Amino acid sequence: MTDSTSTRAPEHILVAVAWPYASGPRHLGHAAGAYVPPDIFARYHRMAGDRVLMVSGSDMHGTPITVAADRLGVTAREFAEANHERIAESFRRLGLAYDLYTTTLTPTHYRVTQEFFLRLLEQGYIFQDTQLAMYDPQAQRFLPDRYVEGTCPHCGYADARGDQCDNCGRTLDAIELIAPRSKLSGATPETRETTHFFLDLPQFQERLERWVADTSPHWRPAVTGFVQGWLREGLRPRAITRDLDWGVPIPLPGYEDKRIYVWFDAVIGYLSASMEWAERQGAPDAWKAWWDLGPHGAAPGRSYYFIGKDNVPFHAIIWPAMLMGFGGLELPYDVPANEFLTIGGQKLSSSRTHTARLPFLPEALDLFDADALRFFLTINAPESRDTDFTWDEFQRRNNDELVATYGNAVHRLLSFLQAKFDGVVPEPGDLGAADAAMLAQARASFALVGEQIEAVHLREGLRQIMALAGALNRYLDDAAPWKTIKTEPARAATTMWTALQVVSALRVLTAPYLPFSAERLQGYLGDTDSVHALPWAMRELPAGRALPKPQPLVRKLDDEELAELVERLGAEAVETGEPT
Ligand code: MF3
Ligand code: ZN
Repeated sequence: MTDSTSTRAPEHILVAVAWPYASGPRHLGHAAGAYVPPDIFARYHRMAGDRVLMVSGSDMHGTPITVAADRLGVTAREFAEANHERIAESFRRLGLAYDLYTTTLTPTHYRVTQEFFLRLLEQGYIFQDTQLAMYDPQAQRFLPDRYVEGTCPHCGYADARGDQCDNCGRTLDAIELIAPRSKLSGATPETRETTHFFLDLPQFQERLERWVADTSPHWRPAVTGFVQGWLREGLRPRAITRDLDWGVPIPLPGYEDKRIYVWFDAVIGYLSASMEWAERQGAPDAWKAWWDLGPHGAAPGRSYYFIGKDNVPFHAIIWPAMLMGFGGLELPYDVPANEFLTIGGQKLSSSRTHTARLPFLPEALDLFDADALRFFLTINAPESRDTDFTWDEFQRRNNDELVATYGNAVHRLLSFLQAKFDGVVPEPGDLGAADAAMLAQARASFALVGEQIEAVHLREGLRQIMALAGALNRYLDDAAPWKTIKTEPARAATTMWTALQVVSALRVLTAPYLPFSAERLQGYLGDTDSVHALPWAMRELPAGRALPKPQPLVRKLDDEELAELVERLGAEAVETGEPT
């Protein structure tokens, strides 16, 4: 059997993952959109021999965090740090293998953000201007939009928030509210002038247009369409500071009661986390291999930004503009934004499937295996359209596909090997046409699946792995070693050997997607090293090897289990106005 490791030169792949707000636990929709896909992508590239740097962290600033902390009577820092711990823990349980998962509160992040700010200011890409904003005369401070409530100027709803009206859905500016009131003191805020720094995006209009034209052919059409729409409307300057006391300080005297806006510092996290990773490696310049354009301006590799679609402007316009202004750093190669995983849009087939919200990661991980969640979130990924989450679909995909097609084929084969071959991989005889075709399909899967993953078609890659598992089932049904063992033992041995090679391929192919069960399967195949250290290639399972007794790889989800979680979530069910 030939080794199918490709011989292309290793590349530096930056896997940049959206930074979750440390405002609370993340739910399955976030995981499907932004957190599981980069992990699959990074695990594959590591196995394919590339140099991967996968970084992210918790996004610790922003008014949703200060509002929630105020309500709980704790500091923003305490609140954000507690949430960061919980998010990091749920990400570990989900198997997300970051090279570094940090936060935006590190000294490195503050330093890099301030350097970035000053460099753009020096280069003339940041300017100062005044704005009108709401000031609370009683609390003696400016109010972020979310701290103001009042009557919506569009629909007359009395409890509109300063950033958005929950009744008519329009986005608002707090100064537009009729009869505004401060959420801090209840006082009527005044309109006052305040000075802020602005990122001068119009200066980047043409460079961005050229860059998008050159780079977007391999982007997802929805991302390109969105970005082109923004560029067609013409870019406007954006305020990048706020009247707040929670955020990265502005590194200039006289601005002590203002802070850098959360979105400006968060995107810089990709760079600061790469630097922090390098510092922790004891090789402070190591980040440059993924970022530094060098003297000839050539990209050192490729960087991929994994995000939900609501983050597209920040990653495909504003961050690239910031990088252009800073100079010398690699621009995004791709921004494979996902659509949303939604809940509640479906016609309700039964009350059992009716939950008001998507489950949070900790509660989902308490009940289900990480791989079961990863499987469903990928095979049903919202790569090209919003996708509705239902428990029925989760159960069906898990039981009919992951378990019936994949898990059972593997378990049936390994158990039969124990029962009839003492667990020892038999010596094959001459391969017949069906055996050779089965092996060829397994071998070809590495290139096919790899191609899909490299194009960030993760769902299609997983579908092809399942197709291989399906082919293995059919091969075994046709070859029926449980029959031939009685009449033609040599034939049965060849069938078993062939099928075991396919299973051997499947543990490698599934490793990026189902890291836990792939590692267990690695053990059932008698290997003691980690499946995640294997190259992305066919790996022969040698004849004569004695395999340990296997356990089932994946498990069915029964109705009671689902009912239990749904009931927990249902306790918080909101009225959807839909019939149940
Ligand atoms: N915190 C944002 C969100 O959860 C994402 C920030 S991505 C970053 O939507 F790049 F800005 F960090
Ligand atoms: Zn309204």
